[in-house]
Amino acid sequence: NILQRAPSQHLGPEYKSNEEKPSATVSTKVSHENVTVLPQTPQLIALLTMIRDKNTNRADFIFYSNRINRLLVEEALNHLPVHPHTITTPVGRTYAGVKFEGKICGVSIMRAGEAMEQALRECCRSVRIGKILIQRDEETSKPRLFYDKLPGDISERWALLLDPMLATGGSALMAVDVLRSRGVPEDHILFLNLIASPEGAANFAQKFPKVRIVTAFVDQGLDEKNYIVPGLGDFGDRFYTM
Ligand code: PRP
Ligand code: URA
Repeated sequence: NILQRAPSQHLGPEYKSNEEKPSATVSTKVSHENVTVLPQTPQLIALLTMIRDKNTNRADFIFYSNRINRLLVEEALNHLPVHPHTITTPVGRTYAGVKFEGKICGVSIMRAGEAMEQALRECCRSVRIGKILIQRDEETSKPRLFYDKLPGDISERWALLLDPMLATGGSALMAVDVLRSRGVPEDHILFLNLIASPEGAANFAQKFPKVRIVTAFVDQGLDEKNYIVPGLGDFGDRFYTM
């Protein structure tokens, strides 16, 4: 569990000088081709600061994590294929645009992944959502698969896999195994994640280099209990029960 050095960066618009901008800890850079980290904007860092704070209450935790989830979904949708589509505007002119092609579905890794479903539904009306119940053993950190229920035609869809925390990577890798066993090609899986550890991202890149990860932040590392640090603690507990 090697901790990375936390990079710091000035945050704010280009037109302001660095002296005018606050500096903050930003995501660790990773060189894996399959990992997209959201731009480290003042908005995103402020939202992450809220949900990382141990004094943030549950209502605020839900509200601010939902806002980050929206950013993740919007970015993930950029990775889906589109084709050229020209339309006519009300003033009679044409506009050369694009249109989404292909079908999608969400797949949440229960329980914490279900917290990301609202953002997905807000962006993709009446999207089908499958569930995989995987729980990490508290002693060994090894994942156990209990249950899955997925759309019958999932092999013909792009699967947006949802889990806010990527620690060792064990749970998410197991979920990808389930999707592949149902015929979803590796390169049709997008993993949407709030905070990843460098170890989890590296495990993914090694085992499933074609699965695209869209994350808000790659953190410093893991502690002795395989919790992400600095992290935000137990996401599921903070969202659902604390
Ligand atoms: C958390 C989290 C991930 C997993 C990450 O879930 O939501 O699924 O742990 O750890 P890993 O990368 O080391 O596998 P947990 O099993 O604690 O269940 P929960 O969603 O019910 O909180
Ligand atoms: N699960 C969480 O909720 N948080 C972590 O830091 C690791 C696993």
